[in-house]
Amino acid sequence: MRILLLNGPNLGRLGQRQPEIYGRTTLAEVVRRATDHAARRGAALIHLQSNHEGALIDRLEELDYDGLVINPGALGHTSYALHDAIEGVARPAVELHISDVHAREPFRHVLVLEDVVVGQVIGRGIDGYVEAIDLLLDHLASGR
Ligand code: DQA
Repeated sequence: MRILLLNGPNLGRLGQRQPEIYGRTTLAEVVRRATDHAARRGAALIHLQSNHEGALIDRLEELDYDGLVINPGALGHTSYALHDAIEGVARPAVELHISDVHAREPFRHVLVLEDVVVGQVIGRGIDGYVEAIDLLLDHLASGR
């Protein structure tokens, strides 16, 4: 199994950006833990972080993966382009947000990807990445 992990805008600064909300773990460390976890479950992980919506969509279109884990950052509240891309590639996707977006500003309560993902992991900190990988792999194993 190959998992594509996408991180959207501003997530490249994990560890430095608002640590009171997102913690002090860097993106490199998050990716290392996610890669190790996926490998323990027999899956390979491919990662891209980009601040650009089009770059994320271009990567999605490569279709060299079985399923997707995505932290879309703020694009998760606004991007119908990402919505349509995920719908169009027809691969199972799990959305995650490190922080509890439902307990933050009202604009974060809108999650435009929710009808094209098979699951969401929200507000679980960086452990959410591992949980999202598990959700995705369980979904893929179920053959649904
Ligand atoms: C985030 C939540 C978003 O609202 C925010 O714009 C981010 C990070 C999270 O992981 O909690 O960039 O996706």
